[in-house]
Amino acid sequence: MSDFTNTSEYEEQFDPRLYLETYFHLGSGSLGDEFLKFVLGNFNKTLKSGAVRGSTLIDIGTAPSIYQLLSACEHFDDITVTWHTNRERLELQKWLNNQPDAFDWSSVVKHVCEIEGSSMDQKAKEERLKGRIKKVLMCDVSKSNPLAPHEAPKADCLVTTVCLEAACRNYDSYGTALKNLSNLLKPKGHLLMAGDIGANYYEVGSNKVFSLPVNETFLKKVISESGYKIVQLVSFGKPEDAEFDNSDFEGFYFVHAQKI
Ligand SMILES: C[S@@+](CC[C@H](N)C(=O)[O-])C[C@H]1O[C@@H](n2cnc3c(N)ncnc32)[C@H](O)[C@@H]1O
Repeated sequence: MSDFTNTSEYEEQFDPRLYLETYFHLGSGSLGDEFLKFVLGNFNKTLKSGAVRGSTLIDIGTAPSIYQLLSACEHFDDITVTWHTNRERLELQKWLNNQPDAFDWSSVVKHVCEIEGSSMDQKAKEERLKGRIKKVLMCDVSKSNPLAPHEAPKADCLVTTVCLEAACRNYDSYGTALKNLSNLLKPKGHLLMAGDIGANYYEVGSNKVFSLPVNETFLKKVISESGYKIVQLVSFGKPEDAEFDNSDFEGFYFVHAQKI
């Protein structure tokens, strides 16, 4: 078994538009509702606290999503978004280019405006994020420079959501990927990372897409051993009565760490 997910197999299995339609209409009652409320709340709280400062931010494995950057765009004016498969890049480009068939992020954007206590309307919020996105680059977390061949200046902050669990096939390669990501960060730069706990898969249509099951103990160990100091690690356990059968996840995590 290879250490990292095979890109063309992933691209075949993972329909980015179906993924968005399944999990990213907030209020639809999917497991995405719980995930989004937890993750967006933590991004907002952490960024608003002032503990994460700077101007440059790179989001690793962005495409096809943008929810993870909606609060960050209030704090960082130079954001790089990244993609790993072409199919996901095309979906993200629809949104960036204001195409009529782009995914409708309005339920998620509305929620972020509410938790930020902002009077900004949804369109203005999306435009703000688009205006802050300065680069769209390919990424591969298995490479020591995940943005190769691009040589990016080191960033103040890295964001990555539900990405390493998709990319890494085992716990050693998860550590390798975290070390590779740290090559993109300035010393004392911030890593904001979120994802599922305990998930072996989640469904996208009829496909069960691979996920590496992680837990808090593993995350604490691997992050600390990969050149970061954990500032905060919070998790959310799946409610006992939750009846989501499209993933075997047990909860979610959000981590704020700093490169040593
Ligand atoms: C479940 S999607 C998450 C997308 C988005 N970050 C989100 O939060 O919705 C998993 C992501 O991991 C990316 N991925 C898989 N293997 C990768 C690799 N070797 N390097 C970088 N990203 C990878 C996929 O292309 C995909 O964008």
